[in-house]
Amino acid sequence: MPPGPDPETRAWASAAVRRFAAATNMLVGARRFRIVGGDPRDAGALHALLTGLGARPAADHEPIDQLWCLGTPDESTPVIEREADRPRGATLVVVDAGRHLPAVDEDAFGPVVAARPGVLAVPTLSDDVFLVSTGRDPEDDPAAEARLRWARRSMPVSRAVAAELRDGGLLRGTRIGVAMFLEPKTAVLSLLLRDAGAEVVVYAHADETDDAVAEVLRAAGLTVLARSTATTTEQKDLALAMLDTGPQILLDDGSHVIRLAHQERPDLLPTMLGAAEETTSGLRPLRVMAARGTLGIPVVAVNDARTKTFFDNRYGTGQSTVFAVLDLVDGLAPGTHRVQPGGAAVVAGFGHVGEGVALVLAALGFRVTVAETDPVRALQALFAGYPVAPLIDAVRDADLVMSATGMPDTLDLEVLRASADGAVLAVAGGVDQEIAVDAALAAGAVRTPVGRKAERFTWPDGHDVVVLDGGGCVNITAAEGNPIEIMDLSFAAQLGAVRMLLERGDELDRAVVPIDPAADEATARTALAAFGSRPAPPGPLAAQPADREPDVRTRRFGEPS
Ligand SMILES: NC(=O)c1ccc[n+]([C@@H]2O[C@H](COP(=O)([O-])OP(=O)(O)OC[C@H]3O[C@@H](n4cnc5c(N)ncnc54)[C@H](O)[C@@H]3O)[C@@H](O)[C@H]2O)c1
Repeated sequence: MPPGPDPETRAWASAAVRRFAAATNMLVGARRFRIVGGDPRDAGALHALLTGLGARPAADHEPIDQLWCLGTPDESTPVIEREADRPRGATLVVVDAGRHLPAVDEDAFGPVVAARPGVLAVPTLSDDVFLVSTGRDPEDDPAAEARLRWARRSMPVSRAVAAELRDGGLLRGTRIGVAMFLEPKTAVLSLLLRDAGAEVVVYAHADETDDAVAEVLRAAGLTVLARSTATTTEQKDLALAMLDTGPQILLDDGSHVIRLAHQERPDLLPTMLGAAEETTSGLRPLRVMAARGTLGIPVVAVNDARTKTFFDNRYGTGQSTVFAVLDLVDGLAPGTHRVQPGGAAVVAGFGHVGEGVALVLAALGFRVTVAETDPVRALQALFAGYPVAPLIDAVRDADLVMSATGMPDTLDLEVLRASADGAVLAVAGGVDQEIAVDAALAAGAVRTPVGRKAERFTWPDGHDVVVLDGGGCVNITAAEGNPIEIMDLSFAAQLGAVRMLLERGDELDRAVVPIDPAADEATARTALAAFGSRPAPPGPLAAQPADREPDVRTRRFGEPS
């Protein structure tokens, strides 16, 4: 086997890319990059990691999205100045990734301003150029408004779809309830809906509420029914208060508010056009309700839009969950766990999320084994180059185990007991008890904090594992959720669902309905343009006169009689 980067260089490249992602909340994949200066081995390791994650080196004539500076400031400065000359609105992130010394001299470009924690704007250079340093901890949190502005900048697709809705006047006077994580990206979605003419009411669960962001929305005139300190009873009151404003359309994440409306406010359902649901796990109970004939409104399956599942579940969640896990692991004391560069990882579930998680772990140098109960998906994992094994066997030697199934008891008590001592276990799917924490405690395990969002579970016989974030969805509660560009696509799909409900909500069945393929394609076209590419033109139409039946007879056995 050809030698890869040495473990330290690999760990440095991994940390640098994760610092970039944490500072910017941006996607690594699908971006064009250039590396300037530095030791060729460092540059090689970084290049391999970025391309492994789906980014690509820019061709000579192409504009770049990320400039990774590894050498001296003297090498970096002229390249930064050259790249700063770019079309308006095309963001360039300059990453100071100097391994031992800074590779960028910030002072060379005049005064800098915090754009969000860890990101500096350089107004004298350009409105579109930002600096990130991988060797420095983020400064104080800039105002929530700045964080919203940063998110909005990277959401061109949602902006374009919302502008169409605004220009068409379709949303005017419509009340929309947004029940999602309350953070900068969803705040931008809410503001786009408001700007397009809707009256927006926002609800969020307490542990999913950023109070500063909530304040920005209130100051902008939106009704926000969310508080990070709300108790369970108060959260229910807030959610019911949102429903009592009489939204015609609900945008939900996890279908909690859609289900609450069915349980507590069934009389409101006939006044609604419908809802849109963002997640796989949120759609599951709604499909059961539809099969039982108890779903009272049409629900557009935004999760199943190709522009959502293929990107959010796969690339977005892959990057954000694995990076969140490794960031938490980096914060643990040596000796508390067995994760190391080039170690063994197991991914349970090879759906869209599992595929992305496996891809990112492999790019970071882990030896990945997949455990999957669906033989077809297991076969796909094999064809993608991963060994496949039953979970109970695979975990015995694994350093890191991630569940990507979204099913309770995936890492059940038996799996927990079979896992190697010191193995780190985490969840990318995100349902309650995906790691069987309750069963472990009932079986005598004692949980001890060992770091931020990390606990050691020790059984009376001395066996121990480290569980991250109490088995919660690790990218959501321990990090900033999915990258902005990914949420931009998902929210464009949400806006497509809103359009569908406005245009033909009263014709739709009271069922989980697929999103219009045309909305998906329109989203993808806008996104291709935003990523600097164009789709192939549609294929030529069949040269068949419209009024003639197509001839489908075979000619292999001679001319048909
Ligand atoms: N963290 C996030 O930001 C995020 C984003 C998107 C989706 N999700 C969640 O991730 C979960 C998975 O989403 P998906 O789109 O990949 O779903 P999916 O249905 O495509 O994939 C799940 C896979 O897990 C397999 N599986 C189920 N139980 C298993 C078990 N015990 N052992 C091994 N394999 C098992 C299934 O056969 C399936 O292939 C869902 O709950 C979804 O809501 C989380």
